Amino acid sequence: MRHMAQIRNIVVLTGAGISAESGLRTFRAADGLWEDHRVEDVATPEAFRRDPDLVQRFYDERRENILAARPNPAHEALARLDREWSGDLLIVTQNIDDLHERAGASRVLHMHGEGLSAWCTACDARQRWTGILRDEPPCPACGARALRPDIVWFGEMPYRMDDIFAALSRADLFVSIGTSGAVYPAAGFVQEAKSHGARALELNLERSQGSQWFDETRLGPASDLVPRWVEEVLGGAS
Ligand code: APR
Repeated sequence: MRHMAQIRNIVVLTGAGISAESGLRTFRAADGLWEDHRVEDVATPEAFRRDPDLVQRFYDERRENILAARPNPAHEALARLDREWSGDLLIVTQNIDDLHERAGASRVLHMHGEGLSAWCTACDARQRWTGILRDEPPCPACGARALRPDIVWFGEMPYRMDDIFAALSRADLFVSIGTSGAVYPAAGFVQEAKSHGARALELNLERSQGSQWFDETRLGPASDLVPRWVEEVLGGAS
């Protein structure tokens, strides 16, 4: 097991919990998104074929919420780490919001896609999108009315898995923030990192489904735990 002084390469995995204090609903809490919507109705390719208007409305509303949200101290602390950490750092987020980037982080990878991006299924172009899609606007690149949310739905392959596994294989420290560990492949990253000798830390409001795999679990709100952890890492680094 590597100690703080030996930590050079860090992989941080974030989930909906890191954006909860920015007013964005999580998925599996009592007031979570999956309480009001069936995954099968709004988050699968089959659902989109069956009822595209229902799916577009779901993501149009999420896009509005993302635009209205602001980064919180947890996002800001990770952006500080990104600025000041001289070793490798990759923030792998399951979130489709852009709060990491709006806080100033750049070493961010959206494995489940981005809410502020539209993907044309006719010409494969992707572009920043802040408006609605339910009115089937033409693709700015090819003119086809074939835009869908640039989101990885259940049953689809997450983005840039090779880059993620390469970073996990080099990681000295794996940190999971605000995720329930309910969804694979993200839920398996802790074991992957540990199989390469990394130390694993969990920062979450409650124990996740994969807590047993972590060397340490700290419970509490991300806006409190993450700034303190980043201070520790950067303090330990100087
Ligand atoms: N601070 C820290 N953790 C929090 C906070 C908070 N303020 N609020 C909630 N949490 C924790 C919860 O305890 C829970 O463990 O965040 C986790 C959120 O879990 P989920 O709602 O399951 O969200 P997530 O793990 O990101 O879901 C994974 O599932 O639905 C799909 O594609 C979707 O990316 C998503 C994936």
